[in-house]
Parts: sequence; C-alpha cells; structure tokens
Amino acid sequence: MPEIAAEVLDGRAVAEKVKEELRGRIAHLGTRGLIPSLTLIRVGEDPASRVYVRAKQKACKAVGITSATIHLPEQSTRQELLDQVDALNRDKSVHGLLVQLPLPRHLAEDEILSAIDPQKDVDGFHPLNIGLLCLGTPRFIPATPLGILKILEFYQIPTEGRCVVVLGRSRTVGRPLANLLSAKASFGNATVTVCHTLTRDLNRHTREADIVIAAAGSKRFLTADMVSPDAVVIDVGIHREPDPDRPGKTRLCGDADFEGLKGRVRALTPVPGGVGPMTVASLLANTVTAAERLSPEGTSAL
Ligand code: GUN
Repeated sequence: MPEIAAEVLDGRAVAEKVKEELRGRIAHLGTRGLIPSLTLIRVGEDPASRVYVRAKQKACKAVGITSATIHLPEQSTRQELLDQVDALNRDKSVHGLLVQLPLPRHLAEDEILSAIDPQKDVDGFHPLNIGLLCLGTPRFIPATPLGILKILEFYQIPTEGRCVVVLGRSRTVGRPLANLLSAKASFGNATVTVCHTLTRDLNRHTREADIVIAAAGSKRFLTADMVSPDAVVIDVGIHREPDPDRPGKTRLCGDADFEGLKGRVRALTPVPGGVGPMTVASLLANTVTAAERLSPEGTSAL
C-alpha cells in the first residue's frame, strides 16, 4: 500500500470535497433552469429518524438541493403510504425519493421500498438497484457504502488484491459493500470475507485483513488485539454512551475501540467525523446524479 498521509481518516474533510464538487454540478444544472430535488417520507415518531431526516434536509440546503419532508402519522395504512410514494413517483419535479427507515412495524419495508421508482431511488434499496449492484453495474450505490469507497479513494487506500473483512451482513452496508469491494472495478478487486455473529474464530479472519470494515452494530466491538498493525479500519457504527468527562452528558462512539486502536493500526476513521458525514454527502451525490439522469443535456426546464 502507498503511504497514507493521515492516521485518522477525516470523513468531514472528504465530505466537504464531495460537496464542493456537487456545487459545481448543481450550478451546471442551474444553467438549464434545473434545481435537483429530494423528497423524504417519514412515518411515525422514531426519534432517530427525526434527527436523520433533519440532518439530510440541512445538508441539501447547504449545497443547493431543494428538499421536502412528508411526515405521515404512525397509524398510516399501507395503502396511504403506497399512494404517497406513487404520487411522488409521478411528480416530475421530484428527482430523488426516499422513505426513512425503520417504518412502523405494521408496514412491510420490502413492499414499500419496491414501490419507489428505481430511477428516483437515491437510497439504492430497490430490489432492481440491489440486483444491478450485485451484477457489477450499479445505478445507485447506497449512501454508506458509497461514502466508504470515497474515503478509500481520497486517501488512496488500494483494494486490488487486498484482503478485506466486512463485519456485518446488513442489507444497507455489509452486503452491498462486500459486493462492491469484490467487483471487477477500480474500487474493487479485493478478496472479501463477510463475518457475522455465527462466524467461528473471528479474530483469525480480522487479523489477516488489510482493511477491516466494522459494521457489526456493537459498541467498541473491534479491539486492537483483533487487527494487524498494518490494517486500515473503517468504522461504520454509531452509538451513544455516557461521557466520562462530562457527567450527565453523552457522546458518540463506533463499532471500533478508537482509543485502543489509535497508534496500533495503519489508519482508522473516527466516530463522529468519519463515515457519518460521508453517508450524507453520498446521498446528496445520488440526488444530483438522479436529477442529471432524469433531465439529460439537451432538455431544459427554462
Ligand atoms: N435509516 C437508517 N439509515 C437509513 C438510510 O440510509 N436510508 C433510509 N431510507 N433510512 C435509513
């Protein structure tokens, strides 16, 4: 691997660079009278979803993407939600559309995600888009995996021929990322091992890895004894815990034991300030891409 200039991989800095590039693309769309637009649907009162949706809207505003949130009551029926998705699918002024997860338990996420127009599916969760990604021809790469690929690219961390361990097999992170990193593509060509709760002798796998992606959903799960000193650690986790330095307050931490790993690995992402900002920036990027594709050069809104 070439030298990585930083030990702590700064997701905020990479996100700023991505957003700067987006501003240029958005300005170009503007010359044709087009403003990219994202609509978010939130159902019910999940507190984390409220925070995430607000953060996404704020990020849209900061780069010049128009956004709107449709908030439906917790008791909304399947048909009401499907009707809302259908109306937004048909609305030509909406380029990107996402339904914030989790949904209330009585609504089947798979059915709702499958109802989103795949051309507007900026989350990349529609089965068709997941299928395209698995085939090695992604249309929309889900935001967190895309953000991670961008961090690796920015810091010139090679994946070709390298051993990557992905801890976690979620549909939003572990599965797509394992697929992308093993694809025959500039960002891929890695040998990928997906580990999960039933993996035997986990440390044997993680110690062999050049890159470890911690997306297990367990607080401070990945510790220094589990990784090689030459490893790059990408931490996808986000957890809240009591802050020992500020009694009564909380702080964020990840799936990796940042303090224990720092100085004992080649490089690692912090929490906060690592993958999180890149996830939001990647959603914005997918929205701009959707707007460009839905309104190709030669068409004009003016
Ligand atoms: N809930 C947590 N992460 C996500 C995400 O990336 N997209 C959506 N739609 N919901 C989420």
